[in-house]
Amino acid sequence: MTYIIKIQENIALAPFTTLKIGGNARFFVRAENEAEALEAFNFARENSFSLFILGGGSNILVSDKGFDGLVLQIAIKGISTSGENSEKVHIAAGAGEDWDEFVNFCVEKNFQGIECLSGIPGFVGGTPVQNVGAYGQEVSETIVSVRCLDRKTGEIFEMSNSECKFSYRKSIFNTTALERFVVLKVEYALNVAQNPKIIYSDLQKYFNEKTPTLKETREAVLAIRAAKSMVIDENDVNSKSVGSFFKNPIVSKEVFCQVEEISRKLKIIEENQTLPFYKIDENIKIPAAWLIENSGFHKGFKKGNAGLSTNHALAIINYSNATAAEILDLKNEIQNRVKSQFGILLMPEPVFVGFE
Ligand code: EPU
Repeated sequence: MTYIIKIQENIALAPFTTLKIGGNARFFVRAENEAEALEAFNFARENSFSLFILGGGSNILVSDKGFDGLVLQIAIKGISTSGENSEKVHIAAGAGEDWDEFVNFCVEKNFQGIECLSGIPGFVGGTPVQNVGAYGQEVSETIVSVRCLDRKTGEIFEMSNSECKFSYRKSIFNTTALERFVVLKVEYALNVAQNPKIIYSDLQKYFNEKTPTLKETREAVLAIRAAKSMVIDENDVNSKSVGSFFKNPIVSKEVFCQVEEISRKLKIIEENQTLPFYKIDENIKIPAAWLIENSGFHKGFKKGNAGLSTNHALAIINYSNATAAEILDLKNEIQNRVKSQFGILLMPEPVFVGFE
């Protein structure tokens, strides 16, 4: 079989990741349109190679051995709007569009719905996978459909919002149908001329009851994120990370009370104090960063070449040429200590690539 796509061999993966860690891909293809993506998919299928779909590399930890198969980077670009009326506009973006550039584009056009998701690294295609969320918004609120390649059937089709089964940091793409679909394009429905959504306390504090414009909201989110090193900056070692390394655990009220009890016994909080928390229906979400810090890992903690950001305890960072093994080692140490102190197992947020 001859292929039109350019199939590269032994390509270093570290530069494609925000952590700047990882060995080589045995094969590497950058697909700029659906036909190329399909051909690359067929190349892997016909040769029985494992396939890993790469987007912006902002939420992956690649092993030091790399990936013994085909890494397919979806670099499909293009933004198009349709069906605009006085209230709504549908806007579709290729999976390979840079997410933050897309957010900026929408904010400039005064399309409301994703402004709080400014400054998040990665590509559009990654956003439905983990239902990207920050500062009171999640993409599940605006996604209409996701255009996918079904790796089982080789067909391309549109998946509706409800079929994606979104919840906190979850979708069908990273749970029940893990590795089954390749995201090619995402369509969002945004509001035309509507005020931004200011419900997250950091943002409310920032604006102090004033109603900002979309642009001001975007700028505020960027400033808040930058202060936590959650915006990629070549000059800030703290941003050599995958953002949050762990999900915030969602626990029952009983478990929350137990954690509070432990914290009082250990004198982490006073008798009349409570832990930081967010209510989610009947359950409670505890900030993982708080659990980590109060298990003895201070901001800026170092273990070999890996460590925690000096600006946010939830970000594991690559201080200087850390290996994937060093990152894993720190991840395990944090999980073990948080578990033995608070009884909660923190679940990692990034995808692990090329590990056994
Ligand atoms: N906190 C600490 N120590 C720290 C940082 C935070 O104890 O070093 C505690 C504080 O009590 C703080 C609370 O954690 O009030 C929450 O912190 P923050 O507002 O920074 O949010 P987060 O829960 O740590 C989540 C998302 C971020 C998102 C922010 C803002 C997850 C796993 N992370 O972080 O998403 O930007 O909210 O909405 O849900 C990402 O997923 O990569 C990511 C950066």
